[in-house]
Amino acid sequence: MKSLRILAIESSCDETAAAVVEDGRKILSSVINSQVAEHRQYGGVVPEIASRRHTENIVPVVEEALEQAGCSLEEIDKVAVTAAPGLIGALLVGVNYAKGLAMASGKPLIPVHHIRGHIAANYLAHPDLKPPFLCLVVSGGHSHIVEVKDYTQFHIIGKTRDDAAGEAFDKCARAMGFPYPGGIYIDKAAQKGDPKKYRLPTPRVEGAPYDFSFSGLKTAVINLLHNASQKGEAVDVDSLAASFQRTICENLVDHLEKAALESGYQVIVAAGGVSANSGLRSRLEKMCGRHKWKLYLPPLSLCGDNAAMIGAQAYYEQLVYPSAGWDLNAAASKPIDTSF
Ligand code: KG4
Ligand code: ZN
Repeated sequence: MKSLRILAIESSCDETAAAVVEDGRKILSSVINSQVAEHRQYGGVVPEIASRRHTENIVPVVEEALEQAGCSLEEIDKVAVTAAPGLIGALLVGVNYAKGLAMASGKPLIPVHHIRGHIAANYLAHPDLKPPFLCLVVSGGHSHIVEVKDYTQFHIIGKTRDDAAGEAFDKCARAMGFPYPGGIYIDKAAQKGDPKKYRLPTPRVEGAPYDFSFSGLKTAVINLLHNASQKGEAVDVDSLAASFQRTICENLVDHLEKAALESGYQVIVAAGGVSANSGLRSRLEKMCGRHKWKLYLPPLSLCGDNAAMIGAQAYYEQLVYPSAGWDLNAAASKPIDTSF
């Protein structure tokens, strides 16, 4: 059977990315232009700047993705794009560009949900991975425990009530004096610190055993730093980072374990930027080792935002939804269990 090549575009936050993916499993090229250095000076993503940079970068990034894949636009079968969720101005750049490209070249247009894409990053790295499985999605904007019933069928078992895991990492990192995005700096500092030195509140949501709440934990870290600074006391930042990381990862893995035991899933998958965290990865390995469950982790190169993961998910979307209409619009928020 002839293979299917998808050109995928991702612009939901501060990375302009394009990739060519074959049959949802093979990366022919993956180009990422990150704006992180520019946003860092403001301590976070400035949406207006992100949109402008996407507009400037999208043409060269797509051209480079085609060139690296060694194929022309004519050799592409379908055009995929992240259409939700994300920063609306940023998403619109990708969606409108993809629409124009698909319309001008007469190719079908496949909209992809960004979080479905993060989950699909695992299909690129693990040829044997197939739904059903239970997935912990932890990114800058989302923390979900998701039942992946099939490639395009999702059911949310647990979610955050306030901050996402990545948001908690980034806000605490900022309070500790690390640059944006701070998750990776906490990860590095934590490796040098004592995870039991600071007692931090364990987040819990009454009556919702699989839901998360990280704002209290974040406030506790910020208050601890503030109080110490007012009293002129030194804080052992490495140990605070280690204590924070231990608390949040313990909570994520504890809820995931309960959800897996309750639902009977024995295949566990992680996805999203925070799945790069070394503390989280080793906790997941220990939990799955204890229960003899199969664990799939995305490689570090596919944890963060990229377009290859969008191309992977798009392959499975187009088997069910062959093409979107030209009235496709971007959406800042959209539940993972709804289609376009
Ligand atoms: O999935 P992602 O690239 O973007 C969104 O869709 O939100 O996730 C970005 C998040 C940021 O909050 C970043 O700090 C976090 O992933 N992150 C990490 C690590 N690497 C990235 N958090 C903890 N430890 C890491 N090693
Ligand atoms: Zn993402």
